[in-house]
Amino acid sequence: MVKPLKIAVLGSSKGSNMQSILDAIEAGTLDAQVVCAIADVPDAYILERARRAGIPAHYLSAAPFKTKLDGEAEQAYIHLMKSHGADTVALAGFMRIVKAQLLHAFPHRVLNIHPALLPAFPGVHGWTQALDYGAKVAGCTVHFVDSGMDTGPIIVQRAVPVMEGDTPETLHARIQAEEHLAYPQALQWLAEGRLQVKGRRVEIRTG
Ligand code: GRF
Repeated sequence: MVKPLKIAVLGSSKGSNMQSILDAIEAGTLDAQVVCAIADVPDAYILERARRAGIPAHYLSAAPFKTKLDGEAEQAYIHLMKSHGADTVALAGFMRIVKAQLLHAFPHRVLNIHPALLPAFPGVHGWTQALDYGAKVAGCTVHFVDSGMDTGPIIVQRAVPVMEGDTPETLHARIQAEEHLAYPQALQWLAEGRLQVKGRRVEIRTG
């Protein structure tokens, strides 16, 4: 049975993944509503995209921390997302580690997209890490978020080749094209109740 998701998107930058989620909703391939977009950077373009789509868009400071969402800031994020009726959190280029309070507020409902084939190249700029390492294959991963950095159970991965002459920009663009397919797909499986987490493994039940 499909239960449409009420998604809060958290981002820090361009918001192309949020756009892919909105496009999939519009196309009828994702049963969901984006109820709000929140950024920890005041001029993040994700907020502009949200406004243009008529979605409540908020800048919410995560100070005093630099790389995590914790303490009172985390409480404020939870409160704001709940006030919009969110039941699912999609991290989309959100450059902070979320902590236990937020994970407990949305149990098994916090997802992240990472621009590498985890567990390889966690952390920032996964595509540059792959290129510098000399990997021949790169890609993206959608996973449930746990308390580690890019360590939660994997839902879906999509691979791309690393080409001769790739720059960080060309490789990232190739990976992002796959991200824009992977994230709506993972969310639709969640809406359909098809994802079952068993330890580290996510089973995807057939329809
Ligand atoms: C994506 O590459 C995503 O994998 C990473 O940050 C980037 C965000 O891009 N976590 P956008 O803001 O969705 O365009």
